[in-house]
Amino acid sequence: MSALANPRATAHAAFERAFHHAPACLVQAPGRVNLIGEHTDYNDGFVLPCAIDRGTVIAASRRHDMTVRVVAADQRGAVDEFRIDLPIVPRADAVWANYVRGSLKHLLDNGLPLGGAELAIAGDVPQGAGLSSSASLELAVIQAFKSLYGLPDLEPTRMALIAQEAENRFVGCACGVMDQMISARGVDGHALLLDCRSLETTPVPLPAGIAVMIVHSRVQRGLVDGEYNLRRQQCESAARHFGVRALRDLLPADFDSGSAGLDPVAQRRARHILTENRRTLDAAAALAAGDMRRMGRLMAESHVSMRDDFEITVPAVDRLVQILQDCIGDDGGARMTGGGFGGCAVALLPHAKVQPTREVLAAAYRSPDGEPAEVHLCRPSNGVGELEVRDTR
Ligand code: GLA
Repeated sequence: MSALANPRATAHAAFERAFHHAPACLVQAPGRVNLIGEHTDYNDGFVLPCAIDRGTVIAASRRHDMTVRVVAADQRGAVDEFRIDLPIVPRADAVWANYVRGSLKHLLDNGLPLGGAELAIAGDVPQGAGLSSSASLELAVIQAFKSLYGLPDLEPTRMALIAQEAENRFVGCACGVMDQMISARGVDGHALLLDCRSLETTPVPLPAGIAVMIVHSRVQRGLVDGEYNLRRQQCESAARHFGVRALRDLLPADFDSGSAGLDPVAQRRARHILTENRRTLDAAAALAAGDMRRMGRLMAESHVSMRDDFEITVPAVDRLVQILQDCIGDDGGARMTGGGFGGCAVALLPHAKVQPTREVLAAAYRSPDGEPAEVHLCRPSNGVGELEVRDTR
């Protein structure tokens, strides 16, 4: 989805234009930024993301038949229509529609009683930036049906798992569970420490006076799927080598004593996961204690590990992170965030340093195509939910 200003008003207006009556409800689901814990989710490890105040809004009403009609305001008013009493199949010509179709298919596969609906979708998550616009769309679709059909058993973790299922099996992306979980369970003013094995979540307050700055390198994320799946395979083969269920279970001593015979690339991948899990737990503790100096160190180490061991950064993002770290000093930190190969850096810094940092970025950073960085200041926000409910009968 492309980014729109005021998605709530846009979704409402698009609904009335398309369906000629007012929507029964408006729902939203946020995008996310990951503070630390990269590629650890599919290794059953730990992540520390926060939901952001950018997301997807859906205006929705029930239909009294089994048809779903969708209009996507942020896809220039593109439409989709399908029936839920017939097999739901992907569309080759409209990727956005598959997040809607896939979410519906997997709601139905989970045995949830649904009927038809009219949906108008609008979003303001920057596109191609690695801020999970797709997870936010999936969760918003699931919330729309929950609100329309009153599905009491559909609590946020279950919603996240159904969304992940849709993404893995219908859209065909082998992502972990982080993006869907944080879009479902985000807490205002907090990051969320998520154990990706038990799915236990612990909200960690962001220290007072600290801003969350997301800086887009303007390097569009390339090769993402192939490289992402390759990292997954490398991690799985390293886990098999060490004889553990997932790299989450690898202990430092076993890494040291058992690395012989494992190829050097898989060794580096395993070392990233091992050290990144440790850093993520330490970062949650540092943040909770308001120790921004320690948090900054951990973010810097995470970036080096992503660059050298996991090899998912690109030179422009390395430069961007260096500029941010030089501006922030010991008052916070910066690192690449998301799957890698372009996209965004995340920085935590005192509000007082936001403007000077913007000025340095404007003067010192250009993408390989000569573009300046794009800065988004975000507030850690609540997860999926209703914005407005009129009458869902
Ligand atoms: C993508 C995936 C997530 C996670 C991150 C890397 O965002 O969707 O599941 O693996 O990459 O941390």
